Amino acid sequence: MSKNVIVAGLTVFVIVALFPFWFNIGNTNAAPEAELSAKAKAAKKCVLDKYDMRANHMSLLDDWRDTVVRDSKRVYKAANGKTFGMSLSTGEDSCMGCHVDKEKFCDKCHNYVSVAPSCWECHTDPKEVTQ
Ligand code: HEC
Ligand code: HEC
Ligand code: HEC
Repeated sequence: MSKNVIVAGLTVFVIVALFPFWFNIGNTNAAPEAELSAKAKAAKKCVLDKYDMRANHMSLLDDWRDTVVRDSKRVYKAANGKTFGMSLSTGEDSCMGCHVDKEKFCDKCHNYVSVAPSCWECHTDPKEVTQ
């Protein structure tokens, strides 16, 4: 067998073997986009910038809870100059007051990564209450 035939054979093998990987690039593994509510879009800014929120919203919420429960302080002055109500779901300036559609925002992302925060056993999704 000539060297060229072997090289051609190997090339075909590599392409076939890698097909499932490059076929999926940017396709089935893409994470869903969390959908911003009209209210959040109008507000433009979150507590921290987008990528910081994406990575750190869990610990931010923990800090908020501790500050409210231990120090009874309920107003948060963010580094971007905006003020927020340190609440998961009470008030217009709380997380859920702005991210009003839990299903399309929080849940969409959490379902994808299979996390189910237990917060909702006690805290309410304002949308469910008003419906
Ligand atoms: C006043 C409205 C408002 C409030 C209150 C608010 N957010 Fe946001 N949030 C936004 C906006 C606007 C963005 C998109 C920011 C951007 O694109 O820079 C965002 C982005 C995010 C993201 C990143 C989304 C992504 O696609 O990566 C997460 C997570 C998030 N917020 C969670 C929270 C949590 C948790 C709270 C409460 C601690 C909160 N937000 C409070 C308006 C708000
Ligand atoms: C861009 C994706 C994304 C969005 C949008 C998002 N989350 Fe998360 N959230 C995550 C990921 C990923 C984790 C798991 C992080 C980990 O385990 O380290 C998480 C974890 C959490 C946790 C900690 C859960 C636990 O059991 O420790 C809380 C609380 C939480 N999210 C609240 C919210 C709330 C409230 C919203 C909507 C306002 C929201 N998240 C929107 C991605 C998101
Ligand atoms: C067993 C019930 C329970 C669970 C579960 C729970 N909380 Fe709470 N949380 C409370 C109570 C009670 C308060 C005090 C209410 C107050 O003073 O306004 C509170 C207060 C808070 C506050 C400040 C006040 C407010 O209006 O939100 C935040 C933020 C908070 N919790 C976040 C969380 C997050 C995030 C989770 C899930 C990781 C969670 N909590 C799970 C009972 C619970």
